[in-house]
Amino acid sequence: MRIVAVANQKGGVGKTTTSQALTAGLADKGYKVLGIDLDPQGNLSSACGSVNYNVPTIYELMKREVTAEETIQHMNGGYDIIPSNIMLAGAEQELSQTGKEHRLKEAIAAVSDNYDYIIVDTPPSLGVLTVNAFTAASDILIPTTAGIFATTGINQLNETVKSVQKYCNPNVKITGILFTRFNPRANISKQIKELTEQLSQYISAPIYKTYIRSAVAVEEAQANRVDIFDYAEKSTVSEDYKAFIEEFLKGEQE
Ligand SMILES: Nc1ncnc2c1ncn2[C@@H]1O[C@H](COP(=O)(O)OP(=O)(O)OP(=O)(O)O)[C@@H](O)[C@H]1O
Ligand SMILES: [Mg+2]
Repeated sequence: MRIVAVANQKGGVGKTTTSQALTAGLADKGYKVLGIDLDPQGNLSSACGSVNYNVPTIYELMKREVTAEETIQHMNGGYDIIPSNIMLAGAEQELSQTGKEHRLKEAIAAVSDNYDYIIVDTPPSLGVLTVNAFTAASDILIPTTAGIFATTGINQLNETVKSVQKYCNPNVKITGILFTRFNPRANISKQIKELTEQLSQYISAPIYKTYIRSAVAVEEAQANRVDIFDYAEKSTVSEDYKAFIEEFLKGEQE
């Protein structure tokens, strides 16, 4: 069982899109997958379509008011989701006690063996929620877009990972950096080279060979509340995410 935290404090780099593609794509391959929405924006929950908001969410679970079983919802895509909503925004202040970094890990301990993969979508910050995801995780996946503003924050992200490794979870590692939202009309190999050079100043972590191209199908799928594979199986983005999942699974065997 692996728990993958999808993180980057920069907003809009494809964390939620990647979390959803990984959750749905691994389920399509027959794995048992749980997606956890740890972002108060609730984007992963709304992108999944059939989420019921009248039952407890990750917020109540983090506050130890309910059990994980009570928050898990079964989706049409064959995977499970623990949804989130805006209430979770209060968690930052409310979880102030000692051990607050361990809440997610403790909360899902009873159900984690029911899954092959647990994918955790995180908010665009390095606060207590993201630290909870890193503390529970075996793997950290960092999506990033091209551009200097997208890469400079990676240093801070790396420092947060190191501090979690030191104080909360020595076993967590950065599995890889995934380049997303590439303009298919631009010179991609040149962009990849530049981005790799920029990143190497801040972090030494594996970079996935697969990159994700930009395509309108992503927003359309999210607006229609279905995953990219169900919405447009033959689109470039579906192909890219399928290739990424193969690379992700292959990396596991090495
Ligand atoms: N490959 C892609 N092609 C086109 N649009 C994309 C792609 N990936 C993501 N997007 C769009 O970019 C926006 C941001 O993507 P997403 O929500 O996945 O990023 P995020 O990192 O989760 O953002 P936030 O930090 O706000 O949580 C969304 O509107 C999404 O539809
Ligand atoms: Mg998001």
